[in-house]
Amino acid sequence: MKLPYIIVTGSSRGIGAEIVRQLASHKSWNQEFQILATARDKSKIGGSDAIRKWALDVASAESVESLAATLSNEGAAVRAIINNAGVYIGGRSPIQKAEDLFRVNYHGPRWLSNMLLPQLATGGRIIHISSGMGELSGFSKEAARQLQNIDEQALNELVERYIEWKDQSISHDPILGWPSNPYSASKGALNALARAQHRAWSERGICVVSVCPGWVRTDMGGSGASRSVEKGAETPVWAATTPSLESGHFYRDMQIIPW
Ligand SMILES: NC(=O)c1ccc[n+]([C@@H]2O[C@H](COP(=O)([O-])OP(=O)(O)OC[C@H]3O[C@@H](n4cnc5c(N)ncnc54)[C@H](OP(=O)(O)O)[C@@H]3O)[C@@H](O)[C@H]2O)c1
Repeated sequence: MKLPYIIVTGSSRGIGAEIVRQLASHKSWNQEFQILATARDKSKIGGSDAIRKWALDVASAESVESLAATLSNEGAAVRAIINNAGVYIGGRSPIQKAEDLFRVNYHGPRWLSNMLLPQLATGGRIIHISSGMGELSGFSKEAARQLQNIDEQALNELVERYIEWKDQSISHDPILGWPSNPYSASKGALNALARAQHRAWSERGICVVSVCPGWVRTDMGGSGASRSVEKGAETPVWAATTPSLESGHFYRDMQIIPW
């Protein structure tokens, strides 16, 4: 019998590469699950040949579709998707527009979850790597209330409105109440997506959570960050492998934290 996959996005470096390394040293690897490590450039994925490596650009719906079609044709099951790939905006980052940021941080995880839903079957997990920077406390009270129980379609509409506001430099949006930092907004939207998916899919036995890795020493976090990549990868790996995980929560250090 073929073992179900744990899929990791953005496995070329940083927390994603470390998640793959920790999964490959887990006692259940090749006993209970296989690893499907993905990155834009699959030659940058490390580890042994026993890890399946796949070129995936999460900002491209076609690229996600191609992975989903392959797994469907193979009749493969997915035990967990770890939506780790992420980008920051501005400074030295090649990402300068909110539209491009949201394609990676919000739409990528959304496409992957939706397109792989048939493979997740009962008991599958979706683990979104989010950030404390996306907490609801960074939104206005009204926006936070609206995001608490929003469905995916209404959330997509708000995301489009936010992107228009940021990328067209409209100086003031009196209604939206989202953080002006698009990274924070994208992670807040990702958390709202996690809650929406939890409400929509938990009856089918699918578990959806968000995880904050903390401030981690990677290209994104910088060398002054307080945590090692080992520590940053610990909770995502735990969320994918622990025998039972409560759906619909935001976790850091294996503990539930406020949305
Ligand atoms: N570091 C922190 O302090 C911190 C804190 C909170 C949350 N996070 C979150 O943790 C996750 C990992 O961050 P990190 O610190 O490891 O960042 P990183 O070192 O900058 O690595 C980012 C990863 O995302 C990949 N990626 C970017 N765009 C992609 C795309 N379109 N398709 C597929 N992969 C793509 C990169 O691949 P390439 O090599 O191809 O560019 C790389 O593997 C992110 O979601 C981030 O927001 C990080």
